[in-house]
Amino acid sequence: MSLTWMLLVLQTGLWAQRYQPSTGINARVEALLAKMTLEEKIGQLTLYTTDWGSTGPTIREGYKNDIRSGACGNLFNSHSTVFVRDLQKVAVEETRLKIPLLFGFDVIHGYKTIFPIPLGEAASWDMEAIEKSARVAATEASAAGLNWTFAPMVDISRDPRWGRVMEGGGEDPFLGSRIAEARVKGIQGKKIGDNNAMLACVKHFAGYGAAMGGRDYNTVDMSEKYFREFYLPPYQAAVNAGAATVMTSFNDYDGVPASGNKFLLDSILRKEWGFEGFVVTDYTTINEMVLHGVVANDQEAGELALKAGVDMDMQGGIYQGYLKKSLKEGKVTQAQIDEGARRVLRLKFELGLFEDPYKFCNAEREKNTLLAPAHRAAAREVARKSVVLLKNENSALPLRKTQKIALIGPLADNKTELIGNWNGAGNFNDCVSLKEGLQGANMQYAKGCELEGTDKSGFAEALRIAAQSEIVVVAVGEKAMISGEATSRTHINLPGVQEELVLELCKTGKPVVVVLMNGRPIVIPAIADKATAILETWWLGTETGNAIADVLWGDYNPAGKLPMSFPRSEGQIPVFYNEKSTGRPFDPNSKWTSKYIDEPNSPQWPFGYGLSYTTFTYTNLNATPETATTRGIPAGKQIRIRVNVQVTNTGKVAGEEVVQLYIRDVVASTTRPVKALKGFQKVMLNPGETKNIAFNLTADDLSFYRRDNTFGMEPGAFDVMVGGNSSDVKTVRIDIER
Ligand code: NOJ
Repeated sequence: MSLTWMLLVLQTGLWAQRYQPSTGINARVEALLAKMTLEEKIGQLTLYTTDWGSTGPTIREGYKNDIRSGACGNLFNSHSTVFVRDLQKVAVEETRLKIPLLFGFDVIHGYKTIFPIPLGEAASWDMEAIEKSARVAATEASAAGLNWTFAPMVDISRDPRWGRVMEGGGEDPFLGSRIAEARVKGIQGKKIGDNNAMLACVKHFAGYGAAMGGRDYNTVDMSEKYFREFYLPPYQAAVNAGAATVMTSFNDYDGVPASGNKFLLDSILRKEWGFEGFVVTDYTTINEMVLHGVVANDQEAGELALKAGVDMDMQGGIYQGYLKKSLKEGKVTQAQIDEGARRVLRLKFELGLFEDPYKFCNAEREKNTLLAPAHRAAAREVARKSVVLLKNENSALPLRKTQKIALIGPLADNKTELIGNWNGAGNFNDCVSLKEGLQGANMQYAKGCELEGTDKSGFAEALRIAAQSEIVVVAVGEKAMISGEATSRTHINLPGVQEELVLELCKTGKPVVVVLMNGRPIVIPAIADKATAILETWWLGTETGNAIADVLWGDYNPAGKLPMSFPRSEGQIPVFYNEKSTGRPFDPNSKWTSKYIDEPNSPQWPFGYGLSYTTFTYTNLNATPETATTRGIPAGKQIRIRVNVQVTNTGKVAGEEVVQLYIRDVVASTTRPVKALKGFQKVMLNPGETKNIAFNLTADDLSFYRRDNTFGMEPGAFDVMVGGNSSDVKTVRIDIER
């Protein structure tokens, strides 16, 4: 562990929250290890999937035999109490040592009650709501047999072509870190061992979101400095919040695939960050190191992975197939195998599975928990918080109850897409569609067109009802399965003829409210220009229709802010707010500056952007003391700058504003971002009300990875910027004297 990090840890008490084995567990683990055969130990390092056939859940006979023999100690994709109980029974009744199984599953944004996709929830900037969402998901999943979820996914990404942006917290490491902490806390609850708490698995370690060209599974390469500053923080935040497990990523970093990368798994994760849980691979990533071309065969791949610090092999069968041989040949050591088994067993003890292997398998509890009314209520609450109002000309929104509405679009009366990708055990039939949410309105409906394809035969009917209405609400977007894993797109527009439909509706002269449902930032410049109002609603989950209706009627005043920039065109990608300063910053009067000749540098809508039904002004920004000194203070740790700003609600309705604080290090030993988020607060203001919002900036907030990659602050001038989005800010300069 670096000295700087040790100081930080001591100062902030972060150490205390990290997962650490509880007292007494180590002795039990050692006693068990002493009885285990080599095969049984390797079994603890092995994870296999179960399947879902048309008649329900199934397991391949081979895997079932592996459980019996102790060669497979963990399963994923098995859920529901009955199925899990059956499989756990094999482990605890038919094996020699009766070691219970872990049951993992991708519970990403809900188990049965489906919450907004994580990118959507990130738009809420509401950490309590995000933690609650994860808590409900874990409460449901742990009532359905599960004890381990492959979440949170905290990969920072600036590339909306990459379909997996829907699973993460967006482009910013500070916001991403706060979200990572909230999700880990929600998943693991009060403590591992409670029967409604699951093991969290922070993924994909590391840098998966930086896949080159936004093409899934592609290579990742960048300087260590850049990696540490922009990509690593959320993983570290999750570990500090107590995440018990970590999943490796598909990509390589600096030429070494993550599942064989000792620098990532040992130097950073274990030594620097003090991680004491276990590391699992992503699906067959050990095997894939052969295709990466860094090992000649599967056996070598297994050796590289074990030595790098991978404890558990997901689905690859490499550890099971080769570790024994590698040990015999002296390529790996007994101690390395023991250490992996030790880490896995510890968490099985921690979960209380040895006391009660069926503690997550109570069918009565499962029945009473899934889709409980309180869970649906929480989902509706988070869903409306996730909505971002992107445009609202002439205050077209909120709708008035008496208005004659034309409800149009392929997603207006749809349920199948609302639960998005990675939807756990969610059933789209449980969803409230937008049409259902608007029930009772003075409304006519026409589909207009499909989500994909070229058929425009529905346009006429859509235009007919538009002509008869006072206002048009048109719901368009992506099919759920075109954002997520393996769904990179080069054209991130609205598929099919949806854009044409919207533009035709705009030509009618009626006000047109566009409701977007999609898993990633999309490129819609013409709609941005022509539509009267635009609501970004992502995929909001089970309560979609109710949540959108709350916003459309003004029963809820939208306060969401974009966690990712929306490009004007694909050619701008990557476009993100915290770019480094160049030597030729954009100057409209000079050709020879950093810009495109056919498109502005700015995105369509920047990071942090989102409107409200009211308006806010920012005044009296100041920083005290404006000059601070680092003299005599070790590593400058005690610097405290108090930043104050007054925020006023200047409109007619109450509303929430996300007040965002950014900094810029004006002169430093390396180039610095033009802006970097360092704080935010969500504040509710009544009409006419002013609140003073205060932030404390510490030396850590002003620190960065310096020339030599050590983390610290360099004295000098800093600009402190505060505003309601990343491009519209007020600035005050502070000076840190040496
Ligand atoms: C592959 C995905 O990359 C990962 O996120 C997921 O947890 C595993 N498959 C297991 O489903």
